[in-house]
Amino acid sequence: MNGASPADLDKVFGIQGELSFSRGAGGLVLIEVSNSQAVATIAMQGAHLLRWRPADQQAVIWLSSDARFTAGKSIRGGIPVCWPWFGPHATDSELPAHGFARTVEWALIEAESLQNGSTRLVFLLQQDNSTREMWPFDAQLVLQMTIGRELQMELLTRNTGHETFILGQALHTYFEVSDVRDVAIHGLENCTYIDKLDHDRKQLQSTPLLFDSETDRIYLDSTADCVIADPGLKRVIRIQKTGSRSTVVWNPWIEKSERMGDMGENGYLQMVCVESANAADDVVTLEPNCEHRLSVIYQLESF
Ligand code: BG6
Repeated sequence: MNGASPADLDKVFGIQGELSFSRGAGGLVLIEVSNSQAVATIAMQGAHLLRWRPADQQAVIWLSSDARFTAGKSIRGGIPVCWPWFGPHATDSELPAHGFARTVEWALIEAESLQNGSTRLVFLLQQDNSTREMWPFDAQLVLQMTIGRELQMELLTRNTGHETFILGQALHTYFEVSDVRDVAIHGLENCTYIDKLDHDRKQLQSTPLLFDSETDRIYLDSTADCVIADPGLKRVIRIQKTGSRSTVVWNPWIEKSERMGDMGENGYLQMVCVESANAADDVVTLEPNCEHRLSVIYQLESF
C-alpha cells in the first residue's frame, strides 16, 4: 500500500482508539498511536518516528520546532533511518547524505495491538528505479517498531541479490534533554572514536561524555548500553542495542544550527543525537541470502 491515502490505510490497518492515519504538514501521511502505555507519531515517509513518550512522561524523542515537512526531504528530529550508507556517500558526493531510506515512502505491512498494551508496526522499504540509480543492489529492508512504555526498533536488511554489498546504517535518534550542557552520556568509556570535527582523528574516550561545544563523533566497537543522564528532567534514557557496533554522538551547537536553519531557536540545547549505527570501520559486509538485524530498546529510568 505504498502511497495510499489516510482513509485507505485506516480501512486496512486502523485500530479503534489506538491507531489512526491523517495527512499532516507538507501532505505527509502520519500514523498516530495512542495506547495505555505510550503515544507516538510516525510519518510514512521514511517510516520516520517523529514523537514517542510513555503515557505519564514528557517527550523522549526531540522534534525540532522548525522541522520542515516536505515530500522527499529529511525531517529534523525523531528517528530518521540512515541506510544503506551512513554520512556522505563513500565515492559520490552528489548522492544524499545518510542514504535514501529516510526520504522515500515506505509501505506499512502490519499493525497490531499486543496483549501487553503496546502497538507493533512493521514497515517495508521497496526499491524502485530511483533508489536503484543510487544503489544498484537487491535488498529488502524491514523496520519493526513496538510502541509501549519502552520503544523497540528493529531494522532487518536482507541481501536478496547475487552480489555482496557493504552496508552502513543508523537509527539516527534525536533525544529530548533539559539542557545538553547539563547531561552526561555513560557507556562510551574506553571506546575509540573518530572525531569528525578534527580531521577524523581517532581518540580514546576515557570519561563520561559532556557537552560544551559542537560534537560529531563515531564511537567504534561500541556495543555497551548508553545512558543519557539528565538531572534537569530527573531521568535517565537507556539505549540498549544489538547488531550495532558504532555509536554516533552529534550536537550541532550554535553556528552549525544557524547554517542548518531548521533547528529552532536554541534547539541545540534541548537535543542530543545518540545513534545506534554501523558506520566507518564498523560497516557490515552482507553476502547474498544473508541478513543483518540492528535492534534497539529505548527506556526511561529514574535519575
Ligand atoms: C550525524 C552526522 O549523524 O548527522 C553529522 O554525524 C551530520 O555529521 C548529522 O551533520 C545531521 O545530518 P543531516 O544530513 O540530517 O543534516
